Amino acid sequence: MRTHYCGELRPTHGNQEVTLCGWVDRCRDHGGVIFIDLRDRTGTVQVTVDPEGSPQVFAQAEQLRNETVLRINGHLRLRPEDSINPKLATGAVEVLATGLTVLNSIKGTLPFGVSVHDEEPVREELRLRHRYLDLRRQRMQRNVALRHLVMQTARRFLDGQGFLEVETPMLTRSTPEGARDYLVPSRVCGGEWFALPQSPQLFKQLLMVGGLERYYQLARCFRDEDLRADRQPEFTQLDLEMSFLSQEQILTINELLVAHIWQNVLGVKLPLPFPRLSWREAMDRYGTDRPDTRYGLELTDVSDLVADLKFKVFSQAVARGGVVKCLALPQGNEQLSNVRIKPGGDVFAEATGAGAGGLAYIRVRDGGVLDTIGAIKDSLSPERAQALLQRCGAQPGTLLLFGAGDGAMVNKALDRVRQFLARELQLIPANTWNFLWVVDFPLLAWNRDEQRLEALHHPFCAPHPADIHDLGKARAQAYDLVLNGLEVAGGSLRIHNAALQQQVLEVMGFSPQEARRQFGFLMDALDMGAPPHGGIAYGLDRLVMLLAGEDSIRDTIAFPKTQQARCPLAAAPAPVEPSQLKELHVASTWVQANQEEPNDGAATT
Ligand code: AMO
Repeated sequence: MRTHYCGELRPTHGNQEVTLCGWVDRCRDHGGVIFIDLRDRTGTVQVTVDPEGSPQVFAQAEQLRNETVLRINGHLRLRPEDSINPKLATGAVEVLATGLTVLNSIKGTLPFGVSVHDEEPVREELRLRHRYLDLRRQRMQRNVALRHLVMQTARRFLDGQGFLEVETPMLTRSTPEGARDYLVPSRVCGGEWFALPQSPQLFKQLLMVGGLERYYQLARCFRDEDLRADRQPEFTQLDLEMSFLSQEQILTINELLVAHIWQNVLGVKLPLPFPRLSWREAMDRYGTDRPDTRYGLELTDVSDLVADLKFKVFSQAVARGGVVKCLALPQGNEQLSNVRIKPGGDVFAEATGAGAGGLAYIRVRDGGVLDTIGAIKDSLSPERAQALLQRCGAQPGTLLLFGAGDGAMVNKALDRVRQFLARELQLIPANTWNFLWVVDFPLLAWNRDEQRLEALHHPFCAPHPADIHDLGKARAQAYDLVLNGLEVAGGSLRIHNAALQQQVLEVMGFSPQEARRQFGFLMDALDMGAPPHGGIAYGLDRLVMLLAGEDSIRDTIAFPKTQQARCPLAAAPAPVEPSQLKELHVASTWVQANQEEPNDGAATT
């Protein structure tokens, strides 16, 4: 069909006959001569149609609409000096058309333009409904190619390190990763259900018991959870597991992998090793386990300095077992007016939106004079005020913002305020890649709703050997890789001893019978020569999003779901025939709004 790709033509190809295939990016009629920008995956090239030389081709070209699929025969030639387009890779050449075949024409009106020259922003729903058109646009072409490059780079690196690529089942039983499962009813085994994997966690551990030593997979995972810009119900992990390696060795291999990807994809050399921060320190200094370290604005605990103040908001918070923490904004007096930090203001709203009752503040004026509400000023002795300023590193001009109350709430509120201020005040440096390992997570966390301990990552993380005597308070040998404030990967060393696995499940509230029922197959395997092992999984979509400079993982996935977990292109999910449900031994209890009776499962939303 073709001799060359559009985007590859250069003056070095010389004068020759070429055949090209592609789409009409746009057509321009310049006083009798028609220019067709012909586009394929590699780029566009200008095709010139001259009415004198090829009157028949010219007549065809006059009828062309954008996105028509064409084959062009023509003669490649250099453009005259004064018509070279330096913005286009093929801008020094053009193809003088001698033949034009319409391979497919456009019917109806296109829902949106594809060419880069169509700059109208397009609603995401429309883009997703016609994703095949959206994929033709430059942005998605670039993102899809970048994703491919990341995957191939990772594959090559891991292959070189002795990893085997192994596929694990899609139809399996639930693996607890903290989200709801997507369930698949079994027709053959009536009344029983498969779960689509939330991750290949248990199977990759079983591969280690199976002696495979080093495994990886680009694994599709399914989680029925609330969606955000960085979450999809169906997403891809770059999933790794290794035997006989220490945590430090696992982190090192991963640093090399990430550095290799950045070098290959962006040409950026990352400094190694990545910094490491304990979970405790991350929570203390940033209020979150995935801090964005591209800017400062660290939090300071001042509970001890304000515990005995007459100002009840502070003293009562401490008396009730909570904390008072402070975020110091060095030039805050200039940067933020009172309107923004008092009720009704945007900064105030960030704090209260995260559960804070308010946002107390102190402005530090010249000579260290405190400018704040009387209730705070009157209850601070000069010595205490001095200690407070010193602890927070405050200077004249600094604005101190305080969170008081339950520790988790204060952290959440000040983390939100910190991120908001960094964006608002443009404190985030461009083109900076701040990787960070957060290590030593707690093994378990208290679930208030269910009144029980639950795994912070998943129940298979190995506790820290030093903490094994008190599993409720133990640290896990678990690690997350954080990049610019986003969790891009998480992993751990695993429990490889069945008795310890049983013990951890029991502390989490599993009865021995329940533990056996759900995880008996794992514990049996652990008892049959499981090597010490550990691993990690990257959110591939998130990695690609950051590499591509996108704000949403939907722009890194060829066919993503909407925020409502729908596929507008294929109109899924969709009703099914009652006969299909019957075959699966399933009846729906779904009741549509305004409909009293349960329907037969064929309901749409
Ligand atoms: P975890 O649950 O932390 O760990 O997942 C690993 C990484 O997957 C990405 N991720 C997601 N990306 C898009 N949409 C989602 N809904 C979504 N959920 C998670 C994140 C996250 O860091 N089995 C363990 C890994 C292990 O221990 O080896 C696991 O799945 O970037």
